[in-house]
Amino acid sequence: MTANDIVRALAAGGTADPYPLYADLHRLGEAVALTAPDLPYAATVHSYRAVDQLMRDTSFEVYDAFWLASTTPDWQRHPVLVMLMNSMMFSNGDQHLRMRALFRKVFTPRRVRRMEPEIVRITAELLDRLAELGADGAEVDYMAEFAYLLPARVVGRLLGLPDEDISWFRSQVDLINDWLDFRRKGPDVLAAADEAAAGITEYYLDLIALRRKEPQADLISDLVRAVDRGQHKVTDLELVGNLLVLFNASFSTTIHLFGNALPLLLERPATQMPAFVEEVLRYETPAHVFIRVASTDTEFLGVPLKRGQLVAVLTGAANRDPRRFPDPDRFDPSRPDNQPISFGAGTHYCLGAALARAEARLALPMVLKRFPQLALGGDPIHTDQLILHGYKSLPIVLGR
Ligand code: HEM
Repeated sequence: MTANDIVRALAAGGTADPYPLYADLHRLGEAVALTAPDLPYAATVHSYRAVDQLMRDTSFEVYDAFWLASTTPDWQRHPVLVMLMNSMMFSNGDQHLRMRALFRKVFTPRRVRRMEPEIVRITAELLDRLAELGADGAEVDYMAEFAYLLPARVVGRLLGLPDEDISWFRSQVDLINDWLDFRRKGPDVLAAADEAAAGITEYYLDLIALRRKEPQADLISDLVRAVDRGQHKVTDLELVGNLLVLFNASFSTTIHLFGNALPLLLERPATQMPAFVEEVLRYETPAHVFIRVASTDTEFLGVPLKRGQLVAVLTGAANRDPRRFPDPDRFDPSRPDNQPISFGAGTHYCLGAALARAEARLALPMVLKRFPQLALGGDPIHTDQLILHGYKSLPIVLGR
């Protein structure tokens, strides 16, 4: 199989088990050129070393307003594009650092530690609810009823969104995610995403105004305070873009950390937690592919790239790189020096890594403790996109 064929197979839905395709890629090298006109990327970068190096290399940028303008000159007419391009995830250089500095200042390790009792409380509430839903042996969808609700409620509390608004939020964010999914782009999808973005912008602007008047103990209040004290130059619309991205990046990934962890946990219930979570992050990482643009004509590990060409950065493959992880397809929480690259590297390194780890470390043992006889139920359904890898639904039965 050529690299083009492998990437086509991945894009065509080889996503429930992409690992044999990753192994094929590893045999071809650390980074390979793609030459097929039907593929949006000019190369894949997939070894551990190459992914780490590329994400730290400033000649590769995230897709920002500058690059978007080259393909979509009227992008500013679309609320969803304006919203995303106002965020750190879609910014480079000074603009990225300016927004990231504000969020790092208020979203600190200390704040994550302070969230821990809240995470335990929310988990206990959700397990009570699960017990009701699964009474008398009824099958329950673990993804919808637990794996999604936990990170969504946690980030909701962190930001200060009322619980009752969260399901509306999810529905709107899903419309935006549909558009972000490369295969679903189309005028209807963009129109729906635009409408959702306009609604979310209005919602957040109202909440920001409210917190400006009456601050609470939440992240939005702290962000507004830091900006109003003049320490950080970030506009309210940039706050909105970043809050959207934070909310979205938070639940849409952590849901799959919980989903992918459960079957592995049921096979080895006695595993020690932090090491188990790290190995899940390596073995079944929630997000497999990130995009970078070459900002100049360059060469990366022997692959020539022209300014503006896209590179697929496969963190999911890097975590199974046999050069970095011996016997990579074996799940082994006792691996020495286990440092998966699931949260990226360099300036865009995941802002929420500590929170995601804390959620999994605290909540997974509570699930098993509450339902020691929990077992998988009917057939699970896998996600059909590589970018987010996991289950759409994972039926479980709770046992007595
Ligand atoms: C297991 C769960 C998670 C995984 C696998 C994950 C993965 C990642 C990765 C790989 C990146 C870098 C993207 C790039 O370089 O293009 C990233 C960025 C980001 N993540 Fe996470 N993430 C997770 C959970 C979270 C949580 C819980 C939050 C928020 C509370 C969060 C917020 C963010 C933000 C805001 C960025 C953008 C940072 C920037 O551009 O400077 N993530 N995440």
